[in-house]
Amino acid sequence: MDKLKKANDYIEKNKVDYKELPEFHVAPQVGWINDPNGFSYYEGMVHLFYQFHPYSKEWGPMHWGHCVSSDLIKWEYYPVALAPDMKYDMDGCFSGSAIETDEGHMLVYTGVTHEENDGKKNEYQNQCVALGDGKSYKKIENNPAINGEIMPQNFSREHFRDPKVWKEDDGYYLVVGNKTNDGKPQVVLFHSKDMYDWRYVSVLAEDVTGKYGTMWECPDFFEINGQYILIASPQDMCADDEFHNGNNSVYFIGNYDRDMHKFDYNKVYALDDGIDFYAPQTTLMPDGRRVMIGWMQSWDSNIRPFKQKWSCMMTIPREIKLIDGRIIQNPVREIKKYYTDSINYVEQTVEGECSFPKINGRVLDMTVEIKDGDYDEFKINFAKNDKFSSSIIYDKSKNEIEINRLYSGMNRDTIGTRKVKVRYPKQSLKLRVIFDKYSVEIFVNDGSQVLSMTYYTPVEADEISFECNNTAVINIEKHGISVR
Ligand code: FRU
Repeated sequence: MDKLKKANDYIEKNKVDYKELPEFHVAPQVGWINDPNGFSYYEGMVHLFYQFHPYSKEWGPMHWGHCVSSDLIKWEYYPVALAPDMKYDMDGCFSGSAIETDEGHMLVYTGVTHEENDGKKNEYQNQCVALGDGKSYKKIENNPAINGEIMPQNFSREHFRDPKVWKEDDGYYLVVGNKTNDGKPQVVLFHSKDMYDWRYVSVLAEDVTGKYGTMWECPDFFEINGQYILIASPQDMCADDEFHNGNNSVYFIGNYDRDMHKFDYNKVYALDDGIDFYAPQTTLMPDGRRVMIGWMQSWDSNIRPFKQKWSCMMTIPREIKLIDGRIIQNPVREIKKYYTDSINYVEQTVEGECSFPKINGRVLDMTVEIKDGDYDEFKINFAKNDKFSSSIIYDKSKNEIEINRLYSGMNRDTIGTRKVKVRYPKQSLKLRVIFDKYSVEIFVNDGSQVLSMTYYTPVEADEISFECNNTAVINIEKHGISVR
């Protein structure tokens, strides 16, 4: 049976009404999604693929879902691009990337297989290529284009995944996440003149300290404002400074020695301080902006809303810049095209708990600036009614910000709250908050820090309130968002 057709037919029959989905965050029409893949610009459109299991709300044999947009906010679903239908990828088409070439739109992904040797079932991950026209894709003849066999002996064949490709003057390069057989994470570099024949180049980066987990998933390597950045999602990290237990998404800043093909980093930071963020990928837009999108979920906090037929979503695409040695993230500016019902409040005093006319809803871009006040703790409560509520809590004396979904109405065994330092405090605290039905992304002080969190509170709970002990003086700028 044609697995692509089977997946597309299934989606057509089972997809939910679009009104059930987030307004402008990419989510599956049915089934499960994880990492963003193949985030790229091709023939005038932005393409976003994603890890996709259409048949259930659980992770399963991975396909590549596909959607396109002209402005990064309003997305249209395209047919599934890849299904695990070849000998070399029959256990999954794992994460990867895409690039525009003279031949067309090329996808590079990890093909997963299992083979029995010496009485043991081993997993193998190899890199594969597919070529398409922006809508349908064909896997090339000589797959797997990169067989893990060509790597040095001590490199894992089982943990060799998530290729990210880019072009330079002398051809194509790609980085892949890998680890040594004795458990050290590394990113390996390959080169090709034509996207078909690849040679192993070097270990681009590694961890010799043991601090950054066991395997770096979804690496992404690029130059921004004259500096090199490696983004990765390390598994199994131990809490330390900016990092929490388990899977994190981080960026390394450093120098790239082009002759040795070696990246030496000297700084490592967290990309998102919320609960739900993993496996981000960036792309370069024709106007020079570097835009990042992440999976707004994580393996450490697995949410399966009971009533839905779909599970998980992406973040809003975020423009990133490197300013004063840190990545600054802000929602792509195209969001402004879709503003409705805008309203401003200036220098309002909050005493106890209060709300403001027309400041409510579940799909909003709202900026709250806490200008002044003798409060210790300030709260924004949202997705709220008499039963449910989630909150952003700012503790002024400790200079900490917390997101909290303990009363959001979710099932058990999810992480309920996370609290972090406000890293770049200013005179006043500015919180730009993007709400989209089931998610909140908080851009603190002009994007110097971001916290992302999902919650599956019934959408009827749409009140927003502001709360503090003593008094606070705030400005509010609110825009509804409507893309349909
Ligand atoms: C990251 C990841 C990738 C892998 C994919 C499988 O979330 O584990 O390393 O390619 O998900 O779906």
